[in-house]
Amino acid sequence: MVPASNIVDPVMGPTSISHHYQNRVVVISGGSSGIGLGISHHLATLGATVVIFGRSQDKLDAATAAIAGQGGNAVGYSVDVRDAPGIVERLADVAQQHGPLDLVIAAAAGNFFAPADKLSANGFKTVIDIDLIGTFNVFSAALPHTRKPGGVLLAITAPQAQRAIPNQAHACAAKAGIDMLVKCLALEWGAKGVRVNAVSPGPIAGTEGLARLSATPEIETAVRNNTALKAFGEVSDIARAVAYLGSPDARYVTGTILDCDGGMRLGNFPSL
Ligand code: HXC
Ligand code: NAP
Repeated sequence: MVPASNIVDPVMGPTSISHHYQNRVVVISGGSSGIGLGISHHLATLGATVVIFGRSQDKLDAATAAIAGQGGNAVGYSVDVRDAPGIVERLADVAQQHGPLDLVIAAAAGNFFAPADKLSANGFKTVIDIDLIGTFNVFSAALPHTRKPGGVLLAITAPQAQRAIPNQAHACAAKAGIDMLVKCLALEWGAKGVRVNAVSPGPIAGTEGLARLSATPEIETAVRNNTALKAFGEVSDIARAVAYLGSPDARYVTGTILDCDGGMRLGNFPSL
């Protein structure tokens, strides 16, 4: 009898996620805390070299030390995703040092709770600049260095892209822009052998993003009840979704938004 781990499925071939990330190069903006840090840990554990971009050098140092402490391989660079020339320069250096980029994840974002009539032009612009333009800056600078064929660009979006949420006009507009950017880039860059996708997390326990949307325990409960599953997700839920889309298991998937949101995007009608 062949041991189960040695059986090769004639349809699926050898299973890939657990093998795919060995010696792969992953770049992640916003990989130094919260969901991005969870993704960095997971992909490093699967064997990737993880290159993290963020603004705070202290956060980058803490993240790379924690990954090294688990036996993983990570480096951090202080870069602001709004600095397009800085991103171009840094990604060229990374590719020179580490080789073609296998997976590039744009997870950096900024958000706060603010009614639209109290939002200054600069407040609105700041979130568009970090989330939407920052995602374009990272993807467009990565394209020349992305492995072809086989490279993957992956954005982290949010249910705000698909559903209007009070006090979130800036984040809703930015994330909706990201969803359409992903589809357009998938269409234009597919012929180069590059896939472009997004993962859309719902409210994820223990993160800055959820804390900023949950000023009181009552609001936190309301946010939880705004998901179909009546539950918060975990960072690991998002890391698993990212690992799938970044691997050859998803080789025929491009231009898609993988909703990993407990159904938050569906809306909620508590009185019905
Ligand atoms: C109204 C605000 C504001 C607030 C800032 N601004 N905070 N307006 N309400 N709470 C305005 C400022 O007054 C200023 O406008 C403009 O925004 C820029 O502010 P700065 O502080 O100068 O910007 P900066 O230093 O670049 O910081 C960016 C930031 C900050 C977004 C404001 O919070 C940040 O760095 N955030 C990163 C971490 C983060 O947000 N994580 C959560 C991501 S979660 P004026 O007019 O005064 O000049 C997420 C989605 C979660 O993205 C979805 C959950 C389901
Ligand atoms: P977080 O902990 O605040 O992480 C944000 C990351 O982005 C940090 O590493 C931060 O590092 C970096 N960053 C922020 N602004 C940057 C900039 N201008 N340039 C470079 N790096 C920057 O947030 P999170 O809650 O985990 O959210 C992570 C992602 O998931 C975001 O895209 C968010 O929109 C999305 N999301 C989150 C939730 C949730 O429930 N948390 C739900 C849906 C979607 P520095 O501060 O050092 O720059």
